[in-house]
Amino acid sequence: MWLVTRYSDVRQVLMDARFQRSLLSAEDAPALTGTPNLLDAPGGLINMDCAEHLRLRRVVQRVFTPRGVKRLRPWVEQAIDRLLDELEERGSPADLMAGYAAAVPNAVMRHLMGVQDLEDDRLRRWAEHAVSDTSRSAEEVAAGLRNLMEFSADLLAERRAAPGEDLVSTLAQAADQQGGVPKAHLANLVGGLVVAGHDTTMTMLGNSLLYILGERPEVCQRLASSKEAAGALAERLVHLIPLGRNPEKPGCLRRAAQDTEIGGVLVRAGEFVAADIGAANRDPSVFTGSPFDDLFAPLESPTLSFGGGTHYCLGIWLARAQLEIALHRLAARFPGLHLTIAVRETEWRLSTTTRSPLRLPAAW
Ligand code: HEM
Repeated sequence: MWLVTRYSDVRQVLMDARFQRSLLSAEDAPALTGTPNLLDAPGGLINMDCAEHLRLRRVVQRVFTPRGVKRLRPWVEQAIDRLLDELEERGSPADLMAGYAAAVPNAVMRHLMGVQDLEDDRLRRWAEHAVSDTSRSAEEVAAGLRNLMEFSADLLAERRAAPGEDLVSTLAQAADQQGGVPKAHLANLVGGLVVAGHDTTMTMLGNSLLYILGERPEVCQRLASSKEAAGALAERLVHLIPLGRNPEKPGCLRRAAQDTEIGGVLVRAGEFVAADIGAANRDPSVFTGSPFDDLFAPLESPTLSFGGGTHYCLGIWLARAQLEIALHRLAARFPGLHLTIAVRETEWRLSTTTRSPLRLPAAW
C-alpha cells in the first residue's frame, strides 16, 4: 500500500477519479481488515464510484447543503440550549461526554430522521459496531450492522407508507422520483447517516472539549463572546485533531483503476493508496506557522479533514454548525467550566476507527 502525505498529493488522490473506492472490495482485492465495518460495506455510498455514486448522492445531497443546514440552525440552537438547561438542572459536576458531546448529535440526528424515541443506548451500540476496528469480533460487527440495516429498512418502509417532513421521508421520495436506486442501497444510506451523524460529531466535540478545557482554558472567554470566533476555532480543531488513529490504514483509502503518477511516483493499476489527510493538514510547505498558537486564526488553506472530490463529506455543514453552536453556547452558559481530572488521566475509547474520551468529568 502506498502512503501519501503531502497536501498537494493527498488532494490529487481525493480529486482524481482514477483513484476509486469500489475497487477496494473488487473480487481480486485482498481483505484489508479482519473485521470489516460500515466503511467496508460494498453497498454504502462511500464505496461507490462514478454514476452509481452520483445517483445515490443526489438523493441525499440537497438536505445537507449550506441552505438546507441554515434552515435547521434555529432548531439546533434550541436543542443545544435544552441540553444545557438539563445539565444545569442536574447540577455540577457532570460528564460532558454523555451529557453534551454525545447528546448534541444524538438530538440532531433523531430530529432529522424523525425518530425521537430512539434510545441513546441503541444508537451508541450501532455506532460502536459500525466503527469497530478491533474492539469487537467480525461476527459481532456483522450482527450489529445487520441490526442497524433492518432498523433502517423498516424505517424507510414506515415513511413510504406515511411520509412526514423528516429526512428519511425525503430520501424515500427523492429515490422514487429518481428511480433505479436499489432498496438495500437506500437502507445502507439511512444506516450510514445515523452512524456518521452521531459518531463523527460526538468524537470531534469530545476531543475539542478535552483540548480546550484541559490545555487552553484561556480561549473560553472569546469562545463565549462570539459565535464567529467559535466557528473559526472549531474549524482549526477539526483540522488539527484527527477523528481517529489508524496506523495501518491512515486517512482515506483508494485503489488505482489505471497507472497514475503521484508526486513523481508511479502507482500501478490495482495498487492501494492511503491518502493521509492528518499528515497533509500539517504539511509545512502549506501550513507555515505554529498551528496551535492562535486558535482563532483562519486556516492558510482549506482543511482536508472533510476529504475532497466526489466523496467530500456530506455532513460538513451540519457538523460545522453543531460544533460552532455547541462550543459557543457551552462557554457562554458556564463561564467557570473546568475539568475535574488532569488531561493525562483521561480514559479513551479505543480499538475503533474514531477515538475520543470515554468520559469528560467537569464542574462549573
Ligand atoms: C467533524 C465531523 C466530520 C468529519 C471530520 C468528517 C469527515 C469525513 C471525511 C474525511 C469523509 C471522506 C472520506 C473519504 O473520502 O474516504 C467523509 C465522508 C462522508 N461523511 Fe463526514 N465527517 C464529519 C461529519 C459528518 C456528519 C455529521 C455526517 C452526516 C450527517 C457525515 C456524513 C458523511 C458521508 C455520508 C460521507 C460519504 C460521502 C460520499 O461518499 O459521497 N459526516 N466525512
